Amino acid sequence: MAVNLTSLQVMQDAPVIPVIVLNDVAHAVPMARALLAGGIRMLEITLRTPQALACMEAIANEVEGAVVGAGTVRSPQDAAAAVKAGARFAVSPGYTPAVGQACKDLGLPLLPGVSTGSEIMMAQEGGYTELKFFPAMQAGGPAMLKAWSGPFFDVKFCPTGGVTPQNAHELLSLPNVACVGGSWLVPADAMAQGDWARIEKLAREATQLAR
Ligand code: 3PG
Repeated sequence: MAVNLTSLQVMQDAPVIPVIVLNDVAHAVPMARALLAGGIRMLEITLRTPQALACMEAIANEVEGAVVGAGTVRSPQDAAAAVKAGARFAVSPGYTPAVGQACKDLGLPLLPGVSTGSEIMMAQEGGYTELKFFPAMQAGGPAMLKAWSGPFFDVKFCPTGGVTPQNAHELLSLPNVACVGGSWLVPADAMAQGDWARIEKLAREATQLAR
């Protein structure tokens, strides 16, 4: 894996980017190892819990082959803290020029979230053409992506939000979809129970989703 990733490389590594919520630093390393064993190495750790940065740091330091990403990046400060913790890519739920510029300045590939045509145009103005469609299923799902493929023919999307193993195939078969994102690979109960075998199995199944 190259030192400096591109957003496209992040999207093309596997059919699914897992959206991960970690409440306990002790879970971070075994969870990352399970995802890796299942064939998923791009890991989006959301900045939604007080432990998130420490979890990123633990994975970045201890799990060879894992590529730590930061999710829920909502400010330039979030982006800077994520890089310090070892993040090599970022995902945001929306787009602001400030977050876009901060990630550029940090050399941090960003998948900015969009759900309207105006937001796509703003992200493109900021130089971003690989975007997260969020919340994908709530905001129009495959029909919206098909509609966008005309005017935004040069954009690749990672639909996230409401994606499941059942609907992932339809999304992944669209030419403007490079991958999907979802939290189903790391269920909260599997994490709480330390059921790493289940997480590994879910990851392996996710890698087999056709694109
Ligand atoms: C999120 O921000 O929580 C992600 O979009 C994941 O959504 P999901 O839980 O519906 O996969």
